[in-house]
Amino acid sequence: MCGISGYVGPRKVCDIIVKQLKKMEYRGYDSVGLSVVNENGIKTIKTVGRVAAVEKMVENANLSGACGIGHTRWATHGEPSVRNAHPHSTSKVSIVHNGIIENSEELKKWLESRGYVLESETDSEVIAKLLDFYYDGNPVGTLRKVSLLLEGAYALGILFYDVADAVFALKKDGPLIVGICDDEKFLSSDLNAILEYTNRYFVLEEDEIAVIKQDKIEIFGADNKEIKKAESVANWQAGVSDKQGFPHFMRKEIAEQPCVISNIILKNIKDGLPNFSADGIPDDYLNRFKRVCIVACGTARYAGLAGKNWIEKFARIPVDVIIASEFRYMDPILSKDTLVIFISQSGETADTLAAARLVKAAGINAIGIINTVGSSITREVDYNIFTEAGIEVAVASTKAYMAQIAVLYLFALKLGLLAGSLTTGKVHFFCNEFIDLPEILEQLFVDKEEKIESFAMLCLKFEIVFFTGRGLDYLLVLEGALKLKEISYINAQAYAAGELKHGPISLITKDALVIALATQGYVLRKTVSNVQEIKARGGNLLLLFKSGMDISEELLSNSIKLPRVGDDVMPFLAAAVLQLLAYHVACAKKLDVDKPRNLAKSVTVE
Ligand code: F6R
Repeated sequence: MCGISGYVGPRKVCDIIVKQLKKMEYRGYDSVGLSVVNENGIKTIKTVGRVAAVEKMVENANLSGACGIGHTRWATHGEPSVRNAHPHSTSKVSIVHNGIIENSEELKKWLESRGYVLESETDSEVIAKLLDFYYDGNPVGTLRKVSLLLEGAYALGILFYDVADAVFALKKDGPLIVGICDDEKFLSSDLNAILEYTNRYFVLEEDEIAVIKQDKIEIFGADNKEIKKAESVANWQAGVSDKQGFPHFMRKEIAEQPCVISNIILKNIKDGLPNFSADGIPDDYLNRFKRVCIVACGTARYAGLAGKNWIEKFARIPVDVIIASEFRYMDPILSKDTLVIFISQSGETADTLAAARLVKAAGINAIGIINTVGSSITREVDYNIFTEAGIEVAVASTKAYMAQIAVLYLFALKLGLLAGSLTTGKVHFFCNEFIDLPEILEQLFVDKEEKIESFAMLCLKFEIVFFTGRGLDYLLVLEGALKLKEISYINAQAYAAGELKHGPISLITKDALVIALATQGYVLRKTVSNVQEIKARGGNLLLLFKSGMDISEELLSNSIKLPRVGDDVMPFLAAAVLQLLAYHVACAKKLDVDKPRNLAKSVTVE
């Protein structure tokens, strides 16, 4: 949420910053701006809208210098407008901020009592004004002094008017990466935005201040002593974040899912059985738990719900799935025999990160199921299972969700094996079904996309769409409804099929569309009865069902037949179809599929 960039080096500063911001636009696209410092001080340009808008301004702005900072905003305090856009500059400093300053109102009053006029509605502007007030020619000392006054979360890029050869950075509870080349340096909220230039980087830790110069980087800890950090090397390649011929990142990321599952098979299945040794997790760590608690947000939480279903079924271990923003304030009851699992694509979601810190402080065992290597949550847990999905750019998560459920499926099998509730033969069988999935998924795209596209046209006619199903199907339609609403802006609600009669069925009329998922054999008859009840009330039906299921012809007029695989692996096929459906509806509505309104990827504020 909000992307920060910075550059120090011999190239055209504005060009590099604009390029980085384009790669981080998915973190927010309400306004955009940049500042450059040279011997004559700081110059700032900013505008509402997207990075392309500031790119145009750069052409005429004549900004020269070797150091700059940039920002793409997801509005928290104050509407998207030029005065609320970052950077926030004074004659002495310029700052870009990701996070929320919780005591900004108090600080504003304090600044006003000293004669400052706050021009914006943002919480961030107080940082610029405080730095301006305290600046005494010592940037690091001033940054530290001001950081002690700030409450909340802040990843900051900073320029000082009289230091034309350095970008400064300070972080607390927001991601910041410093990219390293021999003769140029980068600052970024996101590794992805600097991979084109370098794969060498430092991750800034809490309360660290970085002084980033062309030929060196100095990092100071909370005690202001210099710290020597080891460089990390990214194994992601630049270029994988291009659309590669697809019209949208979302469509490309959906297409990558067979490959994502193959990566997980290669890493987490050995000799036909689930294996987490590549993630360094010993069996004797995993076999001590009597309870599992999964904590996540949004799509990642829906993945957790599928995980609960599999863990309870395969390992007979009770599982709670808790929304991270609730977990952190609910005084959760955790004991030493509980394993807490944090699921996150970004590894930076503020609520999930805070929950992970809480669990760590309580001395409870925890693992992360995380996509982004080196992200903050990965540093708060005992072990991480990396989901190997590669960079996910589209705001709506697809391949990361698929990777999360893939890992959870194998993890549940592993727990089942260790708990003795599944035989080795049974686990072999389940793993074999899983190993077949990439090929089946590839074929599903080829066989069904045209039909899915035609059903997308049907969805367009409705302002409200209900999703329903039972068992794993219910957990899948929760995610299907989220995907549809977030990118197509259609009001989509998911209900357990058995719950319809307890209230929601009163909304079923000829103006409602119901998308029903019926892939679970053991509840098929029940689901079909519920679907009949919808039809009987004039509701329009789109049925997704598993091939070979006995369903009466009258329900099949609008239907998609999915390949026949075991009930427990049906979610992998159903998820892909629901993603494609949402995608084609959004395309048909000519919406900005990759950057839906009001949303941003990587939610680093509460
Ligand atoms: C929806 C979506 C979000 C994220 C949620 C958690 O498509 O992507 O609901 O799943 O914001 O994000 P991570 O997984 O980064 O913690």
